[in-house]
Amino acid sequence: MRFRPFEMERWQSLWENRVRYNLSESGVSPFSLSELSELTGTDPAGTVLGYGHTEGSPLLRERIAALYPGATPEEVLVTSGSAEANFVACWSLIEAGDRVVIVTPTYGQTPGLAESLGAEVVELPLEEDRGWQPAPGAAASAIGPGTRLVVITNPNNPTGAVLTPSSMAEIIEAAERAGAWILADEVYRGAELAGPETESLWDGARRVIVTASLSKAYGLPGLRIGWLVADRGFRDEVWARKDYTTITPSVLCDRLATAALETENRAKILARTREILVRHLSILDAWAAAHAEVLRYRPPDAGAIALFGYDLPVGSAELAERLKGERDTLLVPGIHFGLEGHFRVGFGYSEEQLRGGLEALSSLLSELTETRIASSP
Ligand SMILES: Cc1ncc(COP(=O)(O)O)c(C=O)c1O
Repeated sequence: MRFRPFEMERWQSLWENRVRYNLSESGVSPFSLSELSELTGTDPAGTVLGYGHTEGSPLLRERIAALYPGATPEEVLVTSGSAEANFVACWSLIEAGDRVVIVTPTYGQTPGLAESLGAEVVELPLEEDRGWQPAPGAAASAIGPGTRLVVITNPNNPTGAVLTPSSMAEIIEAAERAGAWILADEVYRGAELAGPETESLWDGARRVIVTASLSKAYGLPGLRIGWLVADRGFRDEVWARKDYTTITPSVLCDRLATAALETENRAKILARTREILVRHLSILDAWAAAHAEVLRYRPPDAGAIALFGYDLPVGSAELAERLKGERDTLLVPGIHFGLEGHFRVGFGYSEEQLRGGLEALSSLLSELTETRIASSP
């Protein structure tokens, strides 16, 4: 197996704990253990630290299944974050030479894995001037006969956009015609800024694998609880593969996740997320309006992430390096998503982090704008 480094995760792993302002995060301010215990009325102190159920405890799987109409606990596998769910799904499905269609831009995990597993990766692009939707007819041409797998991240990272029903219908129809599996990474579902939760692909397609976790919409990335939902046969196959990776979720985290997903607790947690997102997006909106001469963006439908396009004579990697080196602030350069001339800002952490990071970014943008003016004929 070849190995392609996961650029964005490397960038974050190296720098996120070293900078003054971190605008690279894609979730909301995480709960502390005591806040979560208080909100859910759970005292974790008496938990017996054994191995637990390797596929996730029955009650946790029951609560996860309840999020997907018609799903049963036997169709759920609890994993270490959605990252492990995506990994075991790709590892099970992709053989060298397989055609894998990936809706892009996206989080770099599945493209990197597919390439490392020897697949022929075909992109199905979301277009900025269509509000980050695919062009009509693009799904049918990309998802040709012999396609093994179609990967969708919905709501999307890095754009924060949700696929419209017609975009979704085109993708599903093309995948079903080709007999392809769909892997739907729905880790940002539940973090919508307004309106109801994004519809899960579980409802709409037949050969579908849904992955998600408590990391983004729930503010609980440190629990490392994710899941995969698929028909029983596929679920059992990936469960057997998980014996080779992490074996089992932490029994302590399984317990806390079970409490977080109890109906009323879940509603409270998601309401907290929305309150943070809405409050912080108004700060970001005002900041973006003040930089409209050089920046463009479409406010996200979901997630604590906003993708900006910029009109400045500097590559996104250099812009991000300078922001880090000269102003102690981290964001994600667009090039990590294959999008030059863009950067992604995470706006879900503390207000102090957001305001400080945006101020640092403003000062770099002013400097870059002055350089542009000085060098124009
Ligand atoms: C689309 C997407 N999928 C998966 C992950 C992995 O997250 P986790 O393993 O914490 O669920 C991320 C993290 O940023 C992501 O953006």
